[in-house]
Amino acid sequence: MTATIDEILPWGRSYDEYMAMFALTPADLAKSIVGCGDGPAAFNAGMRAHGRRSISVDPIYAFTAAQIRDRISVATPMIVANTRQHMDAYRWDTIPSIEALVEMRQAAMARFLEDYDQGIAEGRYLAGVLPSLPLPDASCDLALCSHLLFTYSEKLSAADHVAFIREIARVAAEARVFPLLDMNGAASPHLGAVLDALPDLGLRGEVREVSYEFQRGGNRMLQIARS
Ligand SMILES: C[S@@+](CC[C@H](N)C(=O)[O-])C[C@H]1O[C@@H](n2cnc3c(N)ncnc32)[C@H](O)[C@@H]1O
Repeated sequence: MTATIDEILPWGRSYDEYMAMFALTPADLAKSIVGCGDGPAAFNAGMRAHGRRSISVDPIYAFTAAQIRDRISVATPMIVANTRQHMDAYRWDTIPSIEALVEMRQAAMARFLEDYDQGIAEGRYLAGVLPSLPLPDASCDLALCSHLLFTYSEKLSAADHVAFIREIARVAAEARVFPLLDMNGAASPHLGAVLDALPDLGLRGEVREVSYEFQRGGNRMLQIARS
């Protein structure tokens, strides 16, 4: 989907948001975790700060920290303007204002950038583009995918979603996908097709409510496991 850094709008969530979006428990954190489409999120850096190791795969890891930082500077006002136009699509209780949102996202992305060069050297940030992950079969316990599948429902077809999930399931025994809404806050038109396709892939899916909700109605994740 993404070929050059100019096509990416980097916008990363925090470690605490990942914990809530995916209902992660201490037992989950002990698993080998891969984040698919982690971008400039701070989950991987947070895992490292807690003495754990996870792997993130994203096309932006083909670029340098300086390139990603520059792109964040360009993308932030664009994302803020778009959010301002769609204020009603979000809940402004936990995150009370656009200013607080920007501060939170910038703190998360700064944490990512601080960790990035070391993470690249340690093989924790791998450049890769779904539907192909640069990881061996069954090499992870748990895959997390935040704000890529379903969020990009306009760009990615139902068949793309199924192909991405097949590849994620090749690598990880379990996958969690959040949210189930598209970018405009509408229910993704692809969820039904994905749920229908899972049995043929030898997978079963369960939609679970989680404690995180920033997009209005965006408090559900899809949990997928081998059947
Ligand atoms: C909206 S951002 C979400 C970042 C992070 N997961 C979070 O929630 O903060 C979407 C991410 O998906 C990545 N991405 C886009 N197409 C991808 C693909 N085909 N395979 C893997 N990652 C992709 C983008 O580079 C971007 O970092």
